[in-house]
Amino acid sequence: MMRGKHIILGITGGIAAYKSATLARLLIKAGAEVQVVMTPNAREFITPVTMSALTGKPVVSEFFSANTGEWHSHVNLGLWADAMVIAPATASSIAKMAHGVADNMLITTYLSAKAPVFVAPAMDLDMMSHPSTAANIDLLRSYGNHIIEPAEGELASHLVGKGRMEEPERIFDVLDRFFSDTDELAGKKVLITAGPTYEPIDPVRFIGNYSTGKMGFALADAAASHGADVTVVAGPVDVRPSHPGVKVIGVESARQMLEACTPLFDEASITIFSAAVADYTPAHPQSCKIKREKTDLRQLDLIRNPDIAATLSSRKRPGQLTVGFALETDNETDNARHKLKNKNLDLIVMNSLRCSGAGFGCDTNKVTVFSPQGVIADIPLKSKQECARDIISILTRYDPYTH
Ligand code: CTP
Repeated sequence: MMRGKHIILGITGGIAAYKSATLARLLIKAGAEVQVVMTPNAREFITPVTMSALTGKPVVSEFFSANTGEWHSHVNLGLWADAMVIAPATASSIAKMAHGVADNMLITTYLSAKAPVFVAPAMDLDMMSHPSTAANIDLLRSYGNHIIEPAEGELASHLVGKGRMEEPERIFDVLDRFFSDTDELAGKKVLITAGPTYEPIDPVRFIGNYSTGKMGFALADAAASHGADVTVVAGPVDVRPSHPGVKVIGVESARQMLEACTPLFDEASITIFSAAVADYTPAHPQSCKIKREKTDLRQLDLIRNPDIAATLSSRKRPGQLTVGFALETDNETDNARHKLKNKNLDLIVMNSLRCSGAGFGCDTNKVTVFSPQGVIADIPLKSKQECARDIISILTRYDPYTH
């Protein structure tokens, strides 16, 4: 899929710049034409000679060639590209991109790029978690850029945390899939519930669970890259979609989630219930904080929450597909098949907390997909993004009448 594609590889000044050589190599091997644009600082970390030798093109770094006075046109570069990938993207370059500080060739090229832009942040964990970096990354995402989230692991500082640039193979994979994704879901609406729900006890306390929403958002990105018009109704989560087309409606409680989903459900061709919905909610949430010294609260009066999947699936019309999730700790298969039937779902994705690497918070998942007839796919342990893409491609091909 990369054959003949024009890729601008932007390199900024971070230790991870050494990985850009591998990324360039992978792109070239796959048949892409690669034009490297480096910031002045990037040249301190990897030489233009290495990059031009790998790509067969002189590296662009300055507005003018010092020798010939030749003007390097960022506008032409921006028009030439089928995609621009900035890897590594330092905190400083991300800030400049977010605010249009066009003081080097890479940022001017970014501002002129008409093609999709992929940004692979790389920095130390404190910089990564600083609110200004998070806000700048959110801004870039809101402008439609694709953020390739950094991985967790040992950093150049030897500290361990989030900030390590994603591996070149994975960045290559993101680009390759971007060009190979089909539009099988074009014109279709997909509704996804994601994350936990918070059930208020009083203004400062709630009943909740450990769901992070990662799987739901990965499904949303995968469905959007197949051309679907995707809306995620999410409980309180930190994750955001990478695909710029995904719409997000934030809610807190199960009731709010059902209310938000109800009008969207009728329009949706596919609905995926991946949220970890609290089954119970306090019967009498207090409007003021419950005070320890004034209350001897030993029990909470709870009432059942609505079952969103069962409620909506009960009014499914022909042609609508509903998919549930079952996260189990024991009797996995029986429980999953029971939920599939009881909630009137077409498919259920079962994962087990007994499998290491699957479940809440992990970046990986291992699942089995059931239809009423039995197992239709066993997806081995892989990243939640890859797992989501497999699930979406199963859904695009699934026809309940022929299974
Ligand atoms: N679900 C839902 N609304 C609820 C509870 C669950 O929409 N109130 C959905 C989940 O999003 C998931 C499926 O139903 O797709 C199964 O969720 P799970 O919590 O495993 O099932 P429960 O029916 O709550 O059963 P239990 O907690 O007893 O395992």
